[in-house]
Amino acid sequence: MVTTRIPTTPFSDQRPGTSGLRKKVTVFQQPRYVENFIQAIFDNVEGAEGSTLVIGGDGRFFNESVVQTAIKMAAANGFGRVLVGQKGLLSTPAASCVIRKHKAIGGLVLSASHNPGGPDGDFGIKFNMSHGGPAPESFTEAMFQKASAITEYRIADAPDVDLGRIGQSRVGEMTVDVIDPVADYAELMEQLLDFDKIADLFRSGFRMRFDALSAITGPYATAILEGRLGAPAGTVVNGEPKPDFGGHHPDPNPVHAHELMELMLGPDAPDFGAASDGDGDRNMIVAPNLFVTPSDSLAILTSHAHLAPGYAGGLAGVARSMPTSRAADRVAAKLGINCFETPTGWKFFANLLDAGLITLCGEESAGTGSNHIREKDGLWAVLLWLNILAVTRKPADQIVREHWATFGRDYYTRHDYEELETAPANELMDALRAKLPGLPGQRFGGLTVQSCDDFAYTDPVDGSVTPKQGVRIHFAEDARAVFRLSGTGTSGATMRVYLERFEPDASRHDLPTADVLAPVVQAANEIAEIAARTGRSEPSVVT
Ligand code: G6P
Ligand code: ZN
Repeated sequence: MVTTRIPTTPFSDQRPGTSGLRKKVTVFQQPRYVENFIQAIFDNVEGAEGSTLVIGGDGRFFNESVVQTAIKMAAANGFGRVLVGQKGLLSTPAASCVIRKHKAIGGLVLSASHNPGGPDGDFGIKFNMSHGGPAPESFTEAMFQKASAITEYRIADAPDVDLGRIGQSRVGEMTVDVIDPVADYAELMEQLLDFDKIADLFRSGFRMRFDALSAITGPYATAILEGRLGAPAGTVVNGEPKPDFGGHHPDPNPVHAHELMELMLGPDAPDFGAASDGDGDRNMIVAPNLFVTPSDSLAILTSHAHLAPGYAGGLAGVARSMPTSRAADRVAAKLGINCFETPTGWKFFANLLDAGLITLCGEESAGTGSNHIREKDGLWAVLLWLNILAVTRKPADQIVREHWATFGRDYYTRHDYEELETAPANELMDALRAKLPGLPGQRFGGLTVQSCDDFAYTDPVDGSVTPKQGVRIHFAEDARAVFRLSGTGTSGATMRVYLERFEPDASRHDLPTADVLAPVVQAANEIAEIAARTGRSEPSVVT
């Protein structure tokens, strides 16, 4: 094999965000752009020589091309073995599972998650560490420094690997194993969850719909739900991954998964509905006539997880991202376990999981996971729900209502202001931060500010401090508004406003969310001067 050293010059925009480097496909298509970034990653991996690397992505447009480049660069950078999913596919949770199971040094996960795909859509590359989770900030920052000073990259002069066929081949000295993308993951699910009970549930006539939104979870859900658990054919819809996700916006929320929502809210609703996102790490859960917020789902899974074999011994603790509602905290308090509050971004859970401080974790952005891997896991969450339904034999909506009756209901909504101009969005946040000291005691929208801060996180395991993770405003009426700028957008700035209010009274658990939260919305808009500063009178998306 001939290794070629290609001279290159840096791109200035290769700093990874919340979840790796995400840009428009056209940005990644610039000559040397992908190569520079992958070389910066490899230069930062200690002990690459002879080690195993996992490569796979969500199948979006440009996936296979980057997979081929990455394989050739891995060979030129001295890796001993590459495990790559057939057709270059691996869901993000499956990549995490494969890294851990095969003791790889890490993995390249190619995905822009829930962002649209296709030639005009988004692409992304991130590196996961040997524990299977996204690289920590120290690593991504060092990667960025390397990318900013890069002078050459190394690539093998070799033909493309046949990704269509499962089996082994070589690129120079390096072994390439094209693996079944589903097998290791399905085996792990079978260890954690009671497949026999779930199969009994389907045999009893239980019906569900899983909408894969033409993204990566199609093959996984079809193999597991229809293949192993005996759900009727047709349970999984939009099950074939497409490079442009068939035009779907693969973000599992009531707005983008509207077909599923219409079914679940209509007269022909099956017993349970679920969806996942572009790369398979997010989940959406819908009971008949009732959307389950991700925050509630985390709390409900926390209180019922012991019903699944993998969690029968109870939970060490639970964690949620700061903007996620406080529903899980209430369950943790009752169970007598710790509940940690982390910044947005799955990587912050890794230390807590590795240290054994938590077993479950989740985020309002539709991510839920456990210590089985180091990524959030959409299909796992759906299967854990099914396990709970199979053991309790209660309808999904009843589980939710009983949960509220026991713990109270955290009414919750999120307002997204997308594609704002960057400067005014930053100014809004700066102005809000500057206002904080004077807010306590003031009234807005009929609510009184009790306390407020700019969330800073001190990692309880390594003591690292992450400042400026979002502005939190607590109101005396047991309500909260949180403001932060998204770290995953690819054009302009997206501001997220997270709004919630606690209602302990069970006779008030069936009110329209928008009505309950109207005063909190008003207060948030007034405090942040949203309309005046953004020129928007309405959010772009309400979930
Ligand atoms: C990705 C990360 C999540 C995070 C989400 C929202 O999916 O993996 O951990 O919660 O992005 O990020 P954003 O910065 O767009 O709110
Ligand atoms: Zn995702």
